[in-house]
Amino acid sequence: MLNEYPPVLLIHAFPLNREVWEPVRQLLRERGVEAHSLDLLGFGDRSCERPSVEPTLDAFGDQVAAWIRRTGSRTVLAGLSLGGYVALNVLRRTPELVAGIALIDSKAGADDEAGIGVREEFAKRVDDEGASWVAAAMREKLLGHTSLAERPDVVAAVTKMIDSTSAETIAWTQRAMACRPDSLSLLADYAEPILVAVGEEDSISTVTESAAVAAAIPGSTFAVIPGAGHLSPLEDPQAVTDVIAEWLLTARRSLN
Ligand code: MLT
Repeated sequence: MLNEYPPVLLIHAFPLNREVWEPVRQLLRERGVEAHSLDLLGFGDRSCERPSVEPTLDAFGDQVAAWIRRTGSRTVLAGLSLGGYVALNVLRRTPELVAGIALIDSKAGADDEAGIGVREEFAKRVDDEGASWVAAAMREKLLGHTSLAERPDVVAAVTKMIDSTSAETIAWTQRAMACRPDSLSLLADYAEPILVAVGEEDSISTVTESAAVAAAIPGSTFAVIPGAGHLSPLEDPQAVTDVIAEWLLTARRSLN
């Protein structure tokens, strides 16, 4: 019975908001999972709030940890891309709050020098020009070719979410992601259930990279979502729901 499980918190990707998880949240609820989502500071309904500190994912990690403490129950963190980095931040700093980790279209490693440079260039351009160019520049990378060709509603939803995110939040978050540490050994040593799932057409965190992450984590579950790109929960909510629900069922003993 999935309603016997700890709550699941769905954490969104960059530069989107909780809407990216909404179809999966509803489908998980129909399956009896106590699924929640939130907007990270600066995104979605929290777009007026700014993390006042230097750019580091600790600000989002603190936000999620405070959310879990309010519920009073250890929580499974399911993070989509940036959401996965935030889940790993919470796991590193407050492991006692985390009942399991699902990394969806995300990465366990740190950025290399070239990647850090690309993020700073991106953030600087947003500082200088604003963010009106970001949706057009990002959506073709975020979505798989199947969604770009066949799911105009998904393309429109992604464009709307990106356009609603402020330049300040986009630049801050790029700089925060750039200094995240490598988390592979943290995951390899983590004794609770871990899921690694990736869209077959994801060109940002590829199937090959994600399979290597899963292979390095003893006992983890690995799944590929056919016909989806980097935003698999929005591109194929049913398939992602099935993967998460199946993983929760398999992980039953250690989650309880
Ligand atoms: C995301 O979808 O959250 C981003 O691709 C994360 C990143 O830029 O590494």
